[in-house]
Amino acid sequence: RRLLHKELTGERIIVVSNREPYIHTKEHGRVEIHRPASGLVTAVEPVMRACSGTWIAHGSGSADRETVDRHDRVPVPPSHPDYTLRRIWLTKEEETGYYYGFANEGLWPLCHIAHVRPIFRLSDWQQYKAINKRFADAIVKEADSDDPVVLVQDYHFALLPRMIRSVLPKATVITFWHIPWPNPESFGICPWREELLQGMLGSTILGFHTPFHCKNFLETVDRYLETRIEHESSTISHGGNLTLVESYPISIQWPYPWQDTIPTVDECRNEILTSLGLSPTHLIGLGVDRQDYTKGILERFLAVERMLELHPEMVGRFSFVQIAAPTRSALDDYQAFEAQVRNLATRINQRFSTGSYQPIILKAEHHEPELVNRYYRAADVCMVTSLHDGMNLVAKEYVAARDDEKGVLVLSQFTGAAHELHEALLVNPYYIEQTADALFQALSMPAFEQQERMRSMRALVRDFNVYRWAGRMLLDAARIRQREKLALRIG
Ligand code: F6P
Repeated sequence: RRLLHKELTGERIIVVSNREPYIHTKEHGRVEIHRPASGLVTAVEPVMRACSGTWIAHGSGSADRETVDRHDRVPVPPSHPDYTLRRIWLTKEEETGYYYGFANEGLWPLCHIAHVRPIFRLSDWQQYKAINKRFADAIVKEADSDDPVVLVQDYHFALLPRMIRSVLPKATVITFWHIPWPNPESFGICPWREELLQGMLGSTILGFHTPFHCKNFLETVDRYLETRIEHESSTISHGGNLTLVESYPISIQWPYPWQDTIPTVDECRNEILTSLGLSPTHLIGLGVDRQDYTKGILERFLAVERMLELHPEMVGRFSFVQIAAPTRSALDDYQAFEAQVRNLATRINQRFSTGSYQPIILKAEHHEPELVNRYYRAADVCMVTSLHDGMNLVAKEYVAARDDEKGVLVLSQFTGAAHELHEALLVNPYYIEQTADALFQALSMPAFEQQERMRSMRALVRDFNVYRWAGRMLLDAARIRQREKLALRIG
């Protein structure tokens, strides 16, 4: 936090993302404020609270849309504002093409190896370009100097860095890509690959979660564009602009936000078990995800089923709670996936249920972060089994929540988090037997081993928290700004 303040003295940063950090909806005539299920928001929001400035995002709630001034510009967080949320409202048609279409039916499956075929429609691409332009115009309006620091978030805005630079050539544009970057062959099927890459190369800094994603990006640029790549410094020179491509593994807030107010682990455990109608000695596994086909929820349920087959003594003693926030439900693939999750849970429950006992407790609705944290504190095991994931902050949140140094993390080797949390039980989620064994190992792990593993994962999340993530990028940006200023003076 201190580093952030130092780097930003005198600067007002502008963050741009599709997802907004606070959603106002009208329920039963009252305005309710929700925090979305989004790794991006989890990470960037505390950074914005520590700095100040403006966050520009797509307005997604129902309440503000209806009011007279539509709350285009609101001070947030609502209880004690630190920064401004500037909303951009999209029509249904724009949202369909830019967000559901190009971003989530095109780029999302293109960048994740989850074997869902990307769909590329010319009309979606046109909306994507138009909405990127709309956000670029908003940034230019928000900028109070000719060299603002702009933080562009994610795959919704690949074209934005170049658009910003064409109007504000001295801007420092830090782009962070929150999802994986595929290899050149995979990326190459996108009909507009060159435009996307050129757009991204308007950035001063381009960040990914892992060195592997950076390497894939450099190889992709090498394959499809005429550029100069300096592998030693990891920079790309293109159209008169220099971009540093670097890995900055994202993280979460530390200290843990509810540290001083949340009930003890024992109290959380009692509260959650009672609310689920379970006895105090019942064992709990937990999954927390958006209902997205990349998250490996079906594979996780199959591993629970296999574990119960192999260890019948666990039937009646262990339940797996899946918190599954609905997401992108307007898309066919997501609707079909929600149905698959429901049906598989029902089938497994029918197979093992006795009396009121259910091996899988599916909570397919949005849960506010504070409640999710109580679940983290109640769970003996947390399972993160993504088929492919940029980082996965659920893994880090579980670790941060366990100040009692208990609990075991089962973690997919295909997440960015697996590159850092080596003391988790790492699994290949496609290999059901292996995940089932890891789940059983977690449930039977002695307390001293849980403590040893948890302690070292907590130290990592504490030391490499989200302030460090943002601080490292801003420090690199400050160095580049300084160098550019000196070069101008000399020139
Ligand atoms: O981190 C990837 C990401 O797509 C974010 O961009 C996004 O906020 C989050 O997952 C949730 O997805 P969505 O905003 O589409 O609900």
